[in-house]
Amino acid sequence: MPCSLVIGASKGLGFELAKRLHSLGHTVYATTRSDKSPNFPQGVKVIQNIDVGIQSAGSSICDALGGSKLDLVFMSAGLFKMDSFNKPDWEAHLDMYKVVSMAPLFIAHHLVQSGSMSSPSKFIIITSEGGSISLRTGEESGGAYGHHASKAAANMVGKVLSNDLYDKSITVAMIHPGFMKTDMTKSVGFDQFYESGGAVEPSEAAASTVDFVLKLTHDKSGTFWAPRGPSGIGGAERVMGSDLSTPLQLPW
Ligand SMILES: NC(=O)c1ccc[n+]([C@@H]2O[C@H](COP(=O)([O-])OP(=O)(O)OC[C@H]3O[C@@H](n4cnc5c(N)ncnc54)[C@H](OP(=O)(O)O)[C@@H]3O)[C@@H](O)[C@H]2O)c1
Repeated sequence: MPCSLVIGASKGLGFELAKRLHSLGHTVYATTRSDKSPNFPQGVKVIQNIDVGIQSAGSSICDALGGSKLDLVFMSAGLFKMDSFNKPDWEAHLDMYKVVSMAPLFIAHHLVQSGSMSSPSKFIIITSEGGSISLRTGEESGGAYGHHASKAAANMVGKVLSNDLYDKSITVAMIHPGFMKTDMTKSVGFDQFYESGGAVEPSEAAASTVDFVLKLTHDKSGTFWAPRGPSGIGGAERVMGSDLSTPLQLPW
């Protein structure tokens, strides 16, 4: 039975990834930041009090795994705080960089060094098309500096990590799961675009993400994908042309 870990599983996509993997028969570890958990299916092993914005998160997760070996890890925890050129927010940027850009490396370091990753295995970072520099065209408004830049940095971390972990047969990939109806998008006012942008429930995005990742081969390590294709990615056709495939490999 494959063993999977979902980091940031209290709600939204992470919660649905944990449920999906459990329904496929995986042994699932799921982390939450607080000491409260949502209603996970029976059998999901919940690791509470994991704040990925602090340095000890990786070693705390390894301790809680108790020697279990992981075949698949999803780093899904994320933070989106809106900012703008006229109102940049220093503290919000720090929070986003810690959670989004820094945590994946530090957690991967602890998991690999402690021997918690199987060989072969997969370490998947949920980033965003918002972290693609190529897809940021003049047709869209500016702003959301911390969100875009922290996700771009996470894409870079994943790319470099894939080089370090290639010979250990650990596949690293970055995933844009799709435009989803979650607390994250609602909190920044994107719920007004749910209809026009084709937003989906996180359960749908979790299903397509898991299906894609389970088929991903090691030669694709270090690449960036949208399993649901161009749908909901405003700049995709402008930048990449029409007749785009699903799944779609995204440009950096
Ligand atoms: N929604 C979209 O349209 C969209 C599009 C592209 C990419 N994504 C990415 O998908 C991932 C999941 O997003 P979502 O839409 O499901 O958002 P969400 O519903 O807001 O969930 C975010 C998750 O991250 C956790 N988290 C935040 N800060 C944390 C910290 N310091 N330590 C540990 N966990 C922390 C949250 O835990 P708490 O409950 O404790 O806050 C929650 O479980 C994110 O990486 C996001 O950037 C989302």
